[in-house]
Amino acid sequence: MKPRQYAYIYTIGCQMNTYDSEKISAVLGSMGYEKTYDLDLADLVVCNTCSIRKKAQEKAFSFLGKVAGRKNNKKDVITIMAGCVAQQEGENVFKRIPNLDMVLGTQAFSQLKTHVNAVRSSKTRVTDIGEHEQIFELMPDFSTLEKDKASRFVTIMQGCDNYCTYCVVPYVRGRERSRKPENIIREIEVLGDNGVREVTLLGQNVNSYGKKEKVCSFPELLEKISRIDTIKRIRFATSHPKDFSDDLIYAIRDNEKICSQVHLPVQSGSTRILKKMNRGYTCQEYVKRIEKLRKECPDIALSSDMIVGFPSETETDFQQTLDLVKDIEFDGLFAFSYSHRPNAPASKFSGEIDQNTKMARLNHLLEIQETFTSKKNQACVGRCESVLVEGRSLKQRKGNGQCIGDMHQMTGRTDSGKIVHFCAKDISLGDILEINIEQAYPHSLWGSVCDEK
Ligand code: 5AD
Ligand code: SF4
Repeated sequence: MKPRQYAYIYTIGCQMNTYDSEKISAVLGSMGYEKTYDLDLADLVVCNTCSIRKKAQEKAFSFLGKVAGRKNNKKDVITIMAGCVAQQEGENVFKRIPNLDMVLGTQAFSQLKTHVNAVRSSKTRVTDIGEHEQIFELMPDFSTLEKDKASRFVTIMQGCDNYCTYCVVPYVRGRERSRKPENIIREIEVLGDNGVREVTLLGQNVNSYGKKEKVCSFPELLEKISRIDTIKRIRFATSHPKDFSDDLIYAIRDNEKICSQVHLPVQSGSTRILKKMNRGYTCQEYVKRIEKLRKECPDIALSSDMIVGFPSETETDFQQTLDLVKDIEFDGLFAFSYSHRPNAPASKFSGEIDQNTKMARLNHLLEIQETFTSKKNQACVGRCESVLVEGRSLKQRKGNGQCIGDMHQMTGRTDSGKIVHFCAKDISLGDILEINIEQAYPHSLWGSVCDEK
């Protein structure tokens, strides 16, 4: 009998990387590799990398630097750098990690099997950073997927044509291209047949889904997906403010399955900086979109991304960012300090902001946002919220209020995407329960079942 072969996959970065890693896992599974979470057992190690900021990129080099050239059970371990850093650096990766076996770009996953076989048979190094028009299609394989998840990601498009001046994505993910609606629907049907009840549709700019290919619009795609009976909830990310259409707002308002949650990155509260970022809207236009969205969908939960310390950002620009955050009162905010990226035009802009100022601005912004996150969580107390059960809580509540008897502490999300913990018995993953929210914490809610359906 052939000895078992194990693959270890380490994923850094965004939700799209999580999804890509599932595809990598499925390809390796078809080659006979079993998934392991124990690095010491691995015969093959993939690091799926992110290059959006320097810190993420360095994390990948540090991990693979330690793993490449390693022997487990006296056998050489095959080591692979996949994803955005691989695409960006190509052959150069070998200068920093000479013992690495493979550099696999963002569009080369379909070639993974061939390349692994080449490394195995001839011990040659492989670099594949070629561009492919077609998105790699592979149906979910439940023998390799992480088990028992009621909610999953589905990439609907790849790449980006927006060329924001700070961003590396158009250079590492290629031109924007959309998957065929029928492939997306088939994939989601398979997920639904295997217990998935919620999907989050992924793309760099989902609002421009299908425009190039003239297949169907994003609201039309949402409508098609909502007709799949097994799927109870649909989320999506990321939206671009300049393409956030009225039709999409009406779809969120009218289609029960589309969750009341929108992630709409603004990046700065200063129109001057937005222009330098090439975002394609003013601060006022952004506010107008939010006003329209809130008018039609009053319960909508809003989150955003913000960059501080973009080249030439003055105290006045930064103050405008703070003013916007106070004005809008987001439910959540992902704030980043600007990081120079190779290829991105802003790396050549004058007016670099020193590290201390960037950190001070970031902390100031996060401190202000905390108050709004808490306020939004607090506003849920006393409400009955529909919660999709996602699993047992990782951390159990102790002392007063802990689950007793045959109750288990479970976790799930509200329609607006907020995490809720609660005690319950005899429930299954994917159930939707009405939960009475009793307490709010900075990043989660606590409640009890108020109405068993
Ligand atoms: N520096 C800091 N943040 C960045 N982002 C993208 N590029 C950079 C960069 N060079 C942030 C943006 C984007 C999020 C995914 O990452 O806010 O929306
Ligand atoms: Fe990057 Fe801008 Fe495209 Fe988003 S829209 S991926 S920030 S270039």
